[in-house]
Amino acid sequence: MDGNGRWAQQRRRPRMIGHRAGARAVNRSIDFCLERGVGALTLFAFSSENWGRPQDEVDSLMKLFLGALDREVDELHRRGVRVRFIGDRSRFAASIAQRMDKAEQRTAGNTAMTLSIAASYGGRQDIAAAARALAEQVAAGTLLPEQIDEQALGQHVALADMPPPDLFIRTGGDTRISNFLLWQLAYSELWFTDVLWPDVDAAVLQQALDDYAGRERRFGLTSAQIAANAAPSTHS
Ligand code: IPE
Ligand code: MG
Repeated sequence: MDGNGRWAQQRRRPRMIGHRAGARAVNRSIDFCLERGVGALTLFAFSSENWGRPQDEVDSLMKLFLGALDREVDELHRRGVRVRFIGDRSRFAASIAQRMDKAEQRTAGNTAMTLSIAASYGGRQDIAAAARALAEQVAAGTLLPEQIDEQALGQHVALADMPPPDLFIRTGGDTRISNFLLWQLAYSELWFTDVLWPDVDAAVLQQALDDYAGRERRFGLTSAQIAANAAPSTHS
């Protein structure tokens, strides 16, 4: 979700105005995904690197985040959304971390959609934490180094219990991943738009889905193999 600051700058307003408009775009995106039956939406709200922004921007973002948690969780729960957070929760103030825990517990049984919010998240940090978890098992004698493979590491990264993301969307004109779900995005389709995040609406998201629908995902195989697998089976 990139471009909040530039959106505000274009209007000669403080960056925070852009972040507030960005929060409204979050609500629109959740509505869109629920309407379209998207099973999982993961939003990169705040990176592990964003802590390095000017303190007043970080403070204002935390306030916005806290307000959104208080305001939106009831409604998300009512609509059957399971809310989760990925990232280093220990860096948040206790008041925020507690609300994150509560929102997760409260919505844990919901099945309409899983909304994962990446906050204080970094993809490299995610992979490093997974490596550490495996190292601890090796040190404890419950895992052999030769048992460490993609599957073992993949079980310890964020969202390990979810299917890998089908589609990655970045707004704001830059064409990079910026330390988002590095492990999980290995075979995701990437889609970039110049639209600034606060301007994202159903039309923009639909464009992304339409583009996605026209792509062929081969996962390292050949086009012919994919076509053969997708063909309806002649056996019963
Ligand atoms: C994304 O918008 C929001 C966060 C990272 C919290 P930016 O704040 O990065 O907006 P630009 O890139 O300055 O326009
Ligand atoms: Mg930015």
